[in-house]
Amino acid sequence: MAPVSTTAEDKLSRSTDSASLARAIARSAEIEVAIDEDPSRFRVLTGDRPTGHLHLGHYFGTVKNRVELQARGVETWQLIADYQVITDRDGIGPLRERVLSLITDYIAAGMDPERATIFTHSAVPALNQLLLPFLSLVTESELHRNPTVKAELEATEGRAMSGLLLTYPVHQAADILFCKANLVPVGQDQLPHLEQARLIATRFDKRYGRAHQDTPVFRRPEALLSKAAHVLGLDGEKMSKSRGNTIELRMSADETAKRLKKAKTDADRVITFDPVNRPEVSNLLLMASLASGEAPETIADEIGDGGGGALKARVTEALNDMLAPIRARRAELEQNEDYLWDVLRRGNERANEVANATLDDVRIAMHMNY
Ligand code: TRP
Repeated sequence: MAPVSTTAEDKLSRSTDSASLARAIARSAEIEVAIDEDPSRFRVLTGDRPTGHLHLGHYFGTVKNRVELQARGVETWQLIADYQVITDRDGIGPLRERVLSLITDYIAAGMDPERATIFTHSAVPALNQLLLPFLSLVTESELHRNPTVKAELEATEGRAMSGLLLTYPVHQAADILFCKANLVPVGQDQLPHLEQARLIATRFDKRYGRAHQDTPVFRRPEALLSKAAHVLGLDGEKMSKSRGNTIELRMSADETAKRLKKAKTDADRVITFDPVNRPEVSNLLLMASLASGEAPETIADEIGDGGGGALKARVTEALNDMLAPIRARRAELEQNEDYLWDVLRRGNERANEVANATLDDVRIAMHMNY
């Protein structure tokens, strides 16, 4: 039986109604075709909260996809969303270390720092300033209706809603709109935020007008729903650092093997790919499949009645093979911290140039260009 979960996280993943989800899926398929026709039409923005280290859930779920988009010729902007760290928690944690680790993981995973703009919220004042006019374009009840924010509040178990938790989707709209990104690869939980960003772009144009005659100040961004796989943690639950069920990109091959030895399987020695009835075993097969390119059913057949031990050995080998070059690059990059901070500094500079130009247009549209 598939576990029936009513946790806040589960609600989060179902936070968009099925009609708009179906529309987003259909539109994503059209966009994939348009990218192959002319990748220069698109600017992608993606964001991560620096709350931990990148793990395989992130890698298979989105990072790999971003690297592929870049390889297809799409310009990519990569935000390290440091102001979003404090939406649902009190402390900022070891932020500097986590930001550095993200930059390292991005580059090690294949993001090209010469082509991608890697930047942080806190270094781009003009981006943050957009929050002010944007807040005038949304109502309090709209903010309270955002299903992702609601689910995030529930997940904090009793914490009061902060002003930032309530309004961060508006700030996230600024992330997307300031750099004129028109494509945002996201999971389903982020669809409400993207809808909010589109609304803000439209309302800004209606209420405050345009800086230059024919073109609205902001583009209308669209979601690119990732076709990437959703892997679970090693215990069959959502992969998350706090559960200790992850494999992080930065782990060693030995640590990976150790974690996998403890992974949950079941009593049936015959390995089959059956995500509904055997979620843990199937998740391990899925990871081996994503890492090796072989179909999960084929891998299951090859293991046959070898049981959980043979399955874990197989997954360990596939993951460590896939991660070996990433980890080697990572180790090299770690030796050169100055270079990593330099990548961020250059990204922040570029983000500031673009944000300042956008804010100038906003000032013109709002008659504040004194
Ligand atoms: N909210 C996103 C998350 O929690 C991170 C994020 C911040 C983001 N700004 C963004 C995602 C802009 C897409 C676009 O994963």
